Amino acid sequence: MIPPHLVDQVIQAVVIEDVVGDYVELKKSGSSFRGLSPFTNEKTPSFYVLPEKGIFKCFSSGKGGSAVNFLMELEKYSFPEAIKQLAQRYGIEIEEEEVSPEQRAALTERESLIALNAWAQQWFTKQLNESEEGQAIALTYFQSRGFRPDILKKFNVGYCPDQWESMSLAAQDAGYTKERLLALGLSKDKDGRLWDFFKGRVMFPIRDVTGRFIAFGGRTLRNDKQSAKYFNSPESILYHKSDVLFGIHLAKPAIAKEDRVLLVEGYTDVMAMHQAGIEHVVSSSGTALTDGQIKLVRRYTKNVTVLFDGDAAGIRASLRGVDLLLAEGMNVQVVLFPDGDDPDSFSKKVSSEELKRHITSEAKDFVAFKMELLSQEAGDDPVKRAEMIHSVMESIAAIPDGIQQGVYLKLAAEDLGMPEATLQLEINKIQRLKLVQEQKAAKRDAFRQRQAGIQTAPPSGVQIPSTWTDDRAPIPADLESSPAANADQRMALDHRTVLEHDLIRLLILYGTETLFVDIESEDQENENQVESDAAEHPKKPEQLEVSFAELMLHHLEETEVPMQDAHCQKILAIFQSSIAAGRVPSSLDLLSQPDTSVHQLVTDLSFIKDIVSERWGEVHQIYPAREADQLHKAMMDSMHQLKLNVNRQEIQRIQEGLIALSKEVDAGDDTAIHGMRDLLEKRKQLDAQKREIARYFGSTILP
Ligand code: CTP
Ligand code: MN
Repeated sequence: MIPPHLVDQVIQAVVIEDVVGDYVELKKSGSSFRGLSPFTNEKTPSFYVLPEKGIFKCFSSGKGGSAVNFLMELEKYSFPEAIKQLAQRYGIEIEEEEVSPEQRAALTERESLIALNAWAQQWFTKQLNESEEGQAIALTYFQSRGFRPDILKKFNVGYCPDQWESMSLAAQDAGYTKERLLALGLSKDKDGRLWDFFKGRVMFPIRDVTGRFIAFGGRTLRNDKQSAKYFNSPESILYHKSDVLFGIHLAKPAIAKEDRVLLVEGYTDVMAMHQAGIEHVVSSSGTALTDGQIKLVRRYTKNVTVLFDGDAAGIRASLRGVDLLLAEGMNVQVVLFPDGDDPDSFSKKVSSEELKRHITSEAKDFVAFKMELLSQEAGDDPVKRAEMIHSVMESIAAIPDGIQQGVYLKLAAEDLGMPEATLQLEINKIQRLKLVQEQKAAKRDAFRQRQAGIQTAPPSGVQIPSTWTDDRAPIPADLESSPAANADQRMALDHRTVLEHDLIRLLILYGTETLFVDIESEDQENENQVESDAAEHPKKPEQLEVSFAELMLHHLEETEVPMQDAHCQKILAIFQSSIAAGRVPSSLDLLSQPDTSVHQLVTDLSFIKDIVSERWGEVHQIYPAREADQLHKAMMDSMHQLKLNVNRQEIQRIQEGLIALSKEVDAGDDTAIHGMRDLLEKRKQLDAQKREIARYFGSTILP
């Protein structure tokens, strides 16, 4: 227990911008500091530190608090751990009070597990250095691979004897429970008896940024292919593989000093580099890089050098992971080693100086490297070349910084002998597709969540949300303020209102109907799914029982065409909040709304059921009697009509914009020319959208 007065003293001493500054690049802005959130992958800084108040606030994750909270969040410290860490930093000596049995029991599960792993590490190391078996087999092995004793010590390597249960028994003798041995994957259970998971393996402890032992990798000493070369600890509350980089604890200061991190594949590569005096090095443990790992190094530097083993297949497999680095705004270089060598084996063949020289002089820019590699593979085959160019453009498209992207684009254009503009178009396409896919994914999630909510949330009364006006699209000012502004647009808007009413009508009449939809195919309908993606993830149709109202809200969100009619907006908002609360409102519910302004429309629309609409044939091409049977089609028809209507209005607006610019463009005004280009680009997108709508209706749509 840390006495309260010492806790106070530590908190008083803390300079929050220094503590946070270790993890986040902070820039002064007014009386506060600003930087990229270490909790999310944001690209625009929304993370603030207010030194006067001693607090931080992260708008993208919602987290906030003192420096202590910051360390607890980021390093997953417990409160006492964070205090101790800060005390050390500010030279405050902490004398813990005697721990009572109750307090010991209250130590978190985390801390007990950390204690067990720390014990295991020491035990394994002891076996390596002191037991006969360890010395004879394991120590000899490390020596034969040329590892110096100081490096073995630095990495706390060890050995787990080849004797079924020696570690498990020793751990239980030392007071550790079976449950925790199992939770950490150190032991396995066989009929109530524990055996050592890592038996007969040399042990590489894995440490988190702060140096705690959170997991182990165990390498077999056999040469047979019977069992995996490495066993690794399973995921546990201490160990989330995808957020961990082997060696980060030891590398931190060197990474900061060099402002660069070297990324290698294996445990032994990291050790070999240290042995050669190169310490800014971490390993992803043989798997493709994850977002979490990238976020981890991004805290310390923007510059990465990826050291690839010699074989081409391995390099190809890693290319995608490297794109993730680019996407995080990192500068990426790659270094190759001669065929068959990895950093470990290479380092043992040459002097430290030569190794260092190799890493600096052979470093190539990643995009250039990828282009060269794929270019060689593609040869003159035009199909393969096109694939290669596409793949390189994907890397370039991933770069968030516009200027940097431009530089690469220019380079690529020169290297490939292709016009920059053509490549730029390709990049635009990739970025748009990515955006669409991200949006769809987000909506899919939201839809699923609502689905889950529908099953669990109890039905509740229907109420207009007080905020319903906040996120509605306003009626365009020009149309609202001057009714006679433009006869064409007026008419278009009137027509739009009709279409909106039609959708709302379907919603009111059939909202509670149950449909079965296959979510996957629903979402892929209009999606330009990349083929390889589809092959990798064969479609697993997920049948969902949904209300028609649910389905329509989902589609409305997806089409991103907001309702403009105020009454339609209100009714939609009622449906949204009500469905979020687990209930589809009936028309009776709508009519018992305190807001009477929607009553008229609800009433009107409810009655249309029995009237043959004039626009029936035009809109649905089906007969009213069959409308209920073809709900899905009726809805999609209306939705596409609405989309078309909006599309037409937008094209109209662009036409007008182009006309307005024509004089300046003719006069060679630069801004106008840029404006014109933008409008033309937008126009192209709208035309494509129009063609898509036409495809839906199976017809050509006249301008
Ligand atoms: N790895 C693993 N499981 C395997 C093989 C590899 O987890 N069955 C991970 C380990 O983290 C390993 C890394 O992938 O360190 C790289 O694999 P490899 O190059 O095969 O291993 P090295 O670490 O280089 O081991 P060694 O030099 O002893 O062959
Ligand atoms: Mn290796």
